[in-house]
Amino acid sequence: MMTRSVGTAYLGLLVLASGCDGWNTPSGPPASIDAELRQSLGGWSVVPIGATPVQAAALVDLGQALMFDKVLSGNRDIACATCHNPVTHAADGLALSVGTGGSGLGPSRTLGPGRQFVPRNAPTLLNAGLGAFYLFLDGRVSGFRSGPFQTPAGVVLPSGLPTLLAAQAMFPVTNREEMRGAPGDRDRFGNPNELAELGDSDFVSVWQAVMRRLLAIPEYVSKFNAAFPQTPTSQLGFQHAATAIAAFETQALTKTDSPFDRYLQHDDAALTAEQKRGALLFFGDKARCASCHGGPLLGGGDFANAGVPQLGPGTGRDAPLDLGRGELFNQSGYRFAFRATPLRNVELTAPYMHDGAFPTLEAVLHHYNDVPRALREYDASQLPPALQPMYHGDEATISAVLANVDGRLSRPLGLSDVEIRELVAFLQSLTDPSARDLSSLVPARVPSGLPVQE
Ligand code: HEC
Ligand code: HEC
Repeated sequence: MMTRSVGTAYLGLLVLASGCDGWNTPSGPPASIDAELRQSLGGWSVVPIGATPVQAAALVDLGQALMFDKVLSGNRDIACATCHNPVTHAADGLALSVGTGGSGLGPSRTLGPGRQFVPRNAPTLLNAGLGAFYLFLDGRVSGFRSGPFQTPAGVVLPSGLPTLLAAQAMFPVTNREEMRGAPGDRDRFGNPNELAELGDSDFVSVWQAVMRRLLAIPEYVSKFNAAFPQTPTSQLGFQHAATAIAAFETQALTKTDSPFDRYLQHDDAALTAEQKRGALLFFGDKARCASCHGGPLLGGGDFANAGVPQLGPGTGRDAPLDLGRGELFNQSGYRFAFRATPLRNVELTAPYMHDGAFPTLEAVLHHYNDVPRALREYDASQLPPALQPMYHGDEATISAVLANVDGRLSRPLGLSDVEIRELVAFLQSLTDPSARDLSSLVPARVPSGLPVQE
């Protein structure tokens, strides 16, 4: 404790020496709230996130092209960046994503004829490269930094994937609703979609077929050769594409210089008084947010049933419900549990929760304030019209969700309107200003020549 406060004072001096303007502000908040807040932060392993290692330029260049290129999708009509678009903060602004066959970008994107919504909200890719142990909202891709990785592909996952984020990038191209398409589909030019004809468990053939498309384009051959100079073209596999995509995500979308991160680096003036009061609630006993959203990423490490309304086509055996982690093999104890979302930059990525049930942070906080009541009284008119009929507000579903809602949320928190505003203000302090406008990441063109922003 002693060493720690000495260190704190010392770092504080460093910040002041570099010109922190909080020093002379007479109206600044009293020192005591900072002492209290720094003490309550101490228990949650919250640390500032330092700079991410620079990724090799040729890898990032290839990864950017792949991220925006619709040639990766069966029907040549959708790219990763359609759903994880820099213009909408590496998400799509929709409650539930719209996959192949759809048209438009961002919140106004619409379903194609005969298609269904993707069952979940597209998470932002901001900070996905920070090394979380679980990816996807049910954590079905998991593992430590260097592997081994648990994924839906089991033993056929190629070796040599350097990170969990690279392992994740193997899967969107195999997903029929998102990118691959349905048997019998024709692509945007009316040609047969060869990816869609492959079997659902035939991951390897899908990866090979996507690589055949890529390596038929000379510009991709040179980009792959520049990114992987040691690998002969004949040895290139989709794991190399996935590695490059992850390098781009990490390089371009790691955004950790928020006011809260500067506060963690001992700049007391980085947060407003209101944000500090919100932080005290967040890390304190009244709101208990940090008990699920703790650790360096403010979440990401565990799953909980937060009593979120059920919405959409659902997944797996229990469709039209979505049991989240409870749907995975051997995880039936996790019914309706989803990953506690890491919260940096959360202000930028509405709508919220695994199915986008809440359009604003205020709506999220009203939900948390009394979960059982909020779920019973959920007002589906806050959803886009196309989703309102897909809200599962029947008594059986609500009771099933509430039956194992997390104990920390089964009773009202008793937050006042002022406290809710303070919590929202704190969540807004998690925004890195450089994440607000990412539109410069959109390339003018991609090697396939397919349109980029449509
Ligand atoms: C149709 C929209 C769509 C497309 C296209 C798409 N994604 Fe996603 N992405 C989603 C949705 C929805 C999820 C959450 C799914 C789940 O958890 O079950 C997701 C999850 C992810 C995650 C996990 C993030 C986290 O916080 O756990 C990453 C990383 C990701 N996608 C990257 C990609 C990449 C790379 C591509 C292209 C190869 C891609 N996505 C294509 C919609 C899309
Ligand atoms: C019992 C664990 C738990 C507690 C306590 C908790 N959360 Fe969460 N939080 C979660 C889970 C799980 C999710 C994801 C739920 C889902 O996707 O359906 C989530 C999602 C969120 C989201 C939405 C993020 C996004 O991008 O969609 C916000 C914002 C949030 N929590 C803030 C808070 C705040 C503020 C508090 C304190 C009032 C809090 N949480 C308390 C587990 C918890």
